[in-house]
Amino acid sequence: MTTTIPIPSRQLFIDGEWREPVKKNRISVINPSTEQIVGDIPAATAEDVDVAVKAARKALKRNGGKDWASATGAHRAKYLRAIAAKITEKKELFSKLEAIDCGKPYDEAAWDIDDVAGCFEYNADLAEALDKKQNAPIELPMDTFKCHVIKEPIGVVGLITPWNYPLLMATWKVAPALAAGCAAILKPSELASLTCLELGEVCKEVGLPAGVLNILTGLGPDAGAPLAAHPDVDKIALTGSSATGSKIMTAAAQNVKPVTLELGGKSPIVVFDDVDIDKAVEWTLFGCFWTNGQICSATSRLILHESIAKEFLDKLVKWAKNIKISDPLEEGCRLGPVVSSGQYEKVLKFVETARSEGATILSGGQRPQHLKKGFFIEPAIITDITTSMQVWREEVFGPVLCVKTFSSEEEAIELANDTHYGLGSAVISNDLDRCDRVTRAFDAGIVWVNCSQPCFCQAPWGGKKRSGFGRELGEWGLDNYLSVKQVTRYISNDAWGWYTPPSPKL
Ligand SMILES: NC(=O)c1ccc[n+]([C@@H]2O[C@H](COP(=O)([O-])OP(=O)(O)OC[C@H]3O[C@@H](n4cnc5c(N)ncnc54)[C@H](O)[C@@H]3O)[C@@H](O)[C@H]2O)c1
Repeated sequence: MTTTIPIPSRQLFIDGEWREPVKKNRISVINPSTEQIVGDIPAATAEDVDVAVKAARKALKRNGGKDWASATGAHRAKYLRAIAAKITEKKELFSKLEAIDCGKPYDEAAWDIDDVAGCFEYNADLAEALDKKQNAPIELPMDTFKCHVIKEPIGVVGLITPWNYPLLMATWKVAPALAAGCAAILKPSELASLTCLELGEVCKEVGLPAGVLNILTGLGPDAGAPLAAHPDVDKIALTGSSATGSKIMTAAAQNVKPVTLELGGKSPIVVFDDVDIDKAVEWTLFGCFWTNGQICSATSRLILHESIAKEFLDKLVKWAKNIKISDPLEEGCRLGPVVSSGQYEKVLKFVETARSEGATILSGGQRPQHLKKGFFIEPAIITDITTSMQVWREEVFGPVLCVKTFSSEEEAIELANDTHYGLGSAVISNDLDRCDRVTRAFDAGIVWVNCSQPCFCQAPWGGKKRSGFGRELGEWGLDNYLSVKQVTRYISNDAWGWYTPPSPKL
């Protein structure tokens, strides 16, 4: 596969056109496999946020709202389907850009781009279905009144996204926001923005009305923070770390602005003693090391029945050593580099701290010998863990799996829920009654049974506790961008009759 492709040079996408940032700053794009600068992206600041918010507000109001916000869902669905088709047409370009920008293995990037197109298509279906749900009657206990409900776009929305699934995480927000009739400002992560900028070009090509989607790349504090605090933005949706979630909630609270937060995790995978060990080993690896280990829902705490621990761990190490670590564009790559030097140092420090706290690094956790450049880390498997250790408690967001054993179902559940987070969870057992009990006991928003990580845009996605609140995907994703208006009509010919009418003038 050709590894050098031209990296498009773009400006900010505002009001349907490419615009240079007011302060003209740019941020380098570094390929994490080579550590080379391969391009740059524009760096927006508060001044650009202001311009984009004005453009979005204008797009909502254009032609009395008839062009977008109050058009039918079916009208908007046509644009969503056209975007999906264009992205599919450009799948190879998008997949390569994703792999170069964030280090994701090409096969995974290609899978993401299929999911992006699928998510736009699915939200087009939801937009069409929305038309049929409008004016739904509400049963009232008084026959002198009639009531119905209208669902309207919430307004101008700020969408702030991370770097691990750059275009897919953006799509989880952009597609339902547009389906609902909102006008959006997308602020992707400064560490991987290339495909999100290309989405701007797609919007131009399909003739999306100007200002309906604006794309501002830039640093979190410089571009994300002013977006979150902007008084003319009606809602903020973030996917990111818990620390950023907390800052965004604080900023949004000043204007009583609604937020939805998809944050980090430290998810468990519980493996019982009745499993097919090879199959369970593969799901355990996929659950933690897919996306180079940088998955919010990574099942990064393996809770393993003690009676199979030895055999399971022997196999786990053998399978882990067999994972192909290489440049993401190399055929068959299954683990690329982590996204940046900062992330590389952070992950290695987690491993070192675990070692110094008395844990055993059973495998990996260091630079692979055959790769002298790039932010590559061999998948780490860590045992002899205590529940007070940092690696058990904190999200690593890298290829690091920690392991604890258990002897009873109760103990497994207690270990699984021993976290401030509550995003994903997985149970592997051939006893489906047991899977059912454990499923109900997990304190998390997502449960995988006999697998880990598969994600479908039809099913709700989101967490509890410090993993955030609100649900993306499915019809819940669309609801995030809709405001519900009740319309109550008095239909009696009689006067209301609460107050005594004044005496007629003599
Ligand atoms: N729950 C989910 O669905 C999900 C999915 C993917 C990633 N994540 C989480 O995302 C994190 C990794 O992504 P990241 O490192 O990009 O997260 P991050 O919180 O550092 O950044 C996320 C986004 O927020 C922006 N940002 C940073 N500071 C900001 C501020 N003060 N105001 C407004 N915006 C600001 C960043 O520029 C970026 O666009 C992990 O914790 C991971 O678990 C969650």
